[in-house]
Amino acid sequence: MEKNMDSITRMSKTQNKIKLIGKISNVILIIVSVITIIVAAGSFIFGAAMFTISRTMSDDEMFSYFSEFLNSSKNRNDISITQAEKEEIKSGLIEAIDNLNSSGLLRLEYKGTGDIKMSELYTFFFFGISIMCVIIIIYLRVIRSMMKTLSKGDRPFTFKAAKKLKRLSFAMLLIMLVNPLTGIMLFVVTLIFSYLFEYGAYLQEKADETNRIQEEMIMSFAEVTENKSEQTGKHVRRVAEYSGIIAEEMGLDEERVSKLRLASTMHDIGKLLIPAEILEKPARLTDEEFAVIKKHPAYGGKLLDNVEGDVMGLARTIALDHHERVDGRGYPDGKSGNYISVEGRIVAVADVYDALTSKRSYKEPWDHQKAYEEILKGSGTQFDSDVVDAFKRRYGDINALRQQYADNE
Ligand SMILES: [Fe+2]
Ligand SMILES: [Fe+2]
Repeated sequence: MEKNMDSITRMSKTQNKIKLIGKISNVILIIVSVITIIVAAGSFIFGAAMFTISRTMSDDEMFSYFSEFLNSSKNRNDISITQAEKEEIKSGLIEAIDNLNSSGLLRLEYKGTGDIKMSELYTFFFFGISIMCVIIIIYLRVIRSMMKTLSKGDRPFTFKAAKKLKRLSFAMLLIMLVNPLTGIMLFVVTLIFSYLFEYGAYLQEKADETNRIQEEMIMSFAEVTENKSEQTGKHVRRVAEYSGIIAEEMGLDEERVSKLRLASTMHDIGKLLIPAEILEKPARLTDEEFAVIKKHPAYGGKLLDNVEGDVMGLARTIALDHHERVDGRGYPDGKSGNYISVEGRIVAVADVYDALTSKRSYKEPWDHQKAYEEILKGSGTQFDSDVVDAFKRRYGDINALRQQYADNE
């Protein structure tokens, strides 16, 4: 499941890029499709005209009509087509039709080259171009429908899209009537895409399920921790919000910020294993009691040791790191500087600021200005200076949130 989550994380990042590419390609594809449709229609009309001519007149008649038309339209009388020119046009046409055939897109069947009428060759040529354009239009339609699905919504990989592609792939088999090779190729390509979409949808569903379970677990854990410890219900909420603001200010991406918000709610989960008499003691703790309290990060790490999913993994990291100090004098491991996770360093600031500004069984809340200065004082020793800088820059928002989520006591 962990692996699924990782691939989903990567996938959703790629999705944004895919979405943009999808939108741009869609516009280009529409333009190209329209041009192709015009060419297809034009060639069809010319083809039909040539077909009619081939049934009603000889080549010589056709050419004399043609020269007459040119002469009248240009007000000139000197255009006539010589026999050599006619032969040249004819061999040019035969070559063009051969090229159409060798493009692999279609196979025109025309009998011989010697006595075939020019108008018949023209018919083949224009109908050939027309058929080729229709095949290209179908190709473009397939690509567009895939691009459109990709650029639509947050979840491009849905079972619905997969089903649609599968239906489309069978429609591609119809092209076999014109050109077997092209038909099979399109069928296979579209079918492969439909299975890729199906797999993407399956991964997405799995990830949704994992996320849902993680959220439920986190919420009930947070609730239990709150009930057990001396902290009021809103501590966890405020720490999550402050952490989110700081992380945002530090430039962590949206997804990481939202994971941090969720995972930070479990930072004190280890307090579940600390006796209530110590947690709720209405006086200052003795050294022995404080030593017991200091075990809660390690307990938290243990509790979350075997969890699955990246939010839970992050919750474990935060539980372990939130009392570490950048100068290495924190606990449980005495990690310093960048050895402490960024998320841990962020929650450390949010947690201490909230502890200072909240009422505890053994102390009254500090004035927020005093708490703010205390955090700034700890920059570079207790706290990461980058985190403190971000805290400072966003203090207006943090203070507003503090008031918004104040304990009503
Ligand atoms: Fe803690
Ligand atoms: Fe806390």
